[in-house]
Amino acid sequence: KFEKIWLGFGILSLLLFLSIIGVTAFAFNHQPSGGLETIDPEKVHETAPFDNPGTHKINDDTYEVIIVAKAFGYEPPEIKVPVGKKIIFKVTSTDVTHSFSIINTNVNMMVVPGQINTKEYTFDKPGEYLVICNEYCGTGHHFMKTTIEVI
Ligand code: CUA
Repeated sequence: KFEKIWLGFGILSLLLFLSIIGVTAFAFNHQPSGGLETIDPEKVHETAPFDNPGTHKINDDTYEVIIVAKAFGYEPPEIKVPVGKKIIFKVTSTDVTHSFSIINTNVNMMVVPGQINTKEYTFDKPGEYLVICNEYCGTGHHFMKTTIEVI
């Protein structure tokens, strides 16, 4: 009788142990380096979603804008998004640290090689929004700007 109790106890502690490992692995998998997704900066153009920069519709209320920053500018060169919809900006860099800062909004993202940064924003008014790089990134820094056309 004693043996059965000990066997049950053993199995229970084994299960507990396994579930702790599972939960830990899960947490680490989903939050590498503090919640940021990572990417190989040399393979940005071959890695989804950055192999296809631009605006993509996810559903009727949500759009995703994929942006690659590199010295002298952003890809794609023109960004168009609809007004009043949730826009998810996803950015990465192929070279050095840049920023993706939309003037007069709270979108002011660091664009770091090796990392994917994400920010949601909804434009309330149509118009042209200026995007600049706030992070000194070399000779191309002053040329780094683009506009977002909100229609
Ligand atoms: Cu890119 Cu400054």
